[in-house]
Amino acid sequence: MRVERVAILGGSGQLGSALRDAFRDREVVAPSHTDVPIEDAGALAALLDDRRPRALINCSAFHHVDTCEREPERAFAINALAVDRLAALCAARGIGFATISTDYVFDGKLGRAYREDDAVNPLTAYGASKAAGESLTRRHGDRHWIVRTSGVFGTIGSSSKGYTLIDKVLRQAEQGEPTRMVDDMVFSPSYAPHVARAIRDLIEREAYGTHHVVNAGACSWYEFVRAAFGKAGLADAPLEATTYAALGNRTRRPMYSPLESATLSRDGVAPLPSWDEALDEFLAARQSRLAARGA
Ligand SMILES: NC(=O)c1ccc[n+]([C@@H]2O[C@H](COP(=O)([O-])OP(=O)(O)OC[C@H]3O[C@@H](n4cnc5c(N)ncnc54)[C@H](OP(=O)(O)O)[C@@H]3O)[C@@H](O)[C@H]2O)c1
Repeated sequence: MRVERVAILGGSGQLGSALRDAFRDREVVAPSHTDVPIEDAGALAALLDDRRPRALINCSAFHHVDTCEREPERAFAINALAVDRLAALCAARGIGFATISTDYVFDGKLGRAYREDDAVNPLTAYGASKAAGESLTRRHGDRHWIVRTSGVFGTIGSSSKGYTLIDKVLRQAEQGEPTRMVDDMVFSPSYAPHVARAIRDLIEREAYGTHHVVNAGACSWYEFVRAAFGKAGLADAPLEATTYAALGNRTRRPMYSPLESATLSRDGVAPLPSWDEALDEFLAARQSRLAARGA
């Protein structure tokens, strides 16, 4: 399907920005959070009726995991009930609906990377709300893409956190400040521009269904940051490995939640490069950005 016009909710965020770029040769409709909050069914219907996109990609979410634990109603309102309404509005108009989900739908106890058809068992309110968003989407028919990704890193900061983690720790290292990273939480780092390209391919190929879209391989947060420091010429920067328990955070998180895809190659979509290659690309892009700013 040639998507002449695509709508993106959450287009100012990490992944949304990369998606706007991935579709830059097409018409992109990306209203701001203020103009079209995902909770506002009237504003969503008006967006779809006025602009008639071929597909809508939902990147908006309430995804600050610890805050979701304290505010489960809000997590379900944004990540599940609003997604349900949006899926229904799209289905009623014949508009393809893509929504982004997470490795946090899994409990991390499987002992291997999760595939698309593994059973979900979220540990957190965030994960439960995203899993509910997935199920509610599926009930509106087949013309949907549920894209699970993990540990997204891109060039634009997450709106809820205000920074990209990798940029933050690189800046700390450049200033000689110490960094502490957990070494017992393993995931699949995912470079936003790579994820965005695969999402475009999935949409254009009409490869509907649930897909895992992450860079290949897995590592702990400590290993990820150590690799980034090494590649950035900061191998001697102070970096300490710690455990999740030592952080004193009471939210139960999946400790081993890498994702792998059994569907991308089946559906003719190129698998994503390794996270190590993605890190090279990220660092080269960061270098160009800093050079352009004269930093
Ligand atoms: N970041 C990760 O590591 C990660 C991992 C797995 C899955 N995911 C999923 O990937 C998706 C994109 O994440 P991201 O990292 O790109 O997030 P992000 O950078 O925080 O961007 C979120 C976007 O959604 C908008 N937004 C937030 N609440 C909204 C609402 N109620 N109505 C309309 N728009 C709203 C934000 O706008 P404002 O900034 O104006 O509020 C922003 O444009 C989410 O579904 C997330 O659950 C992320």
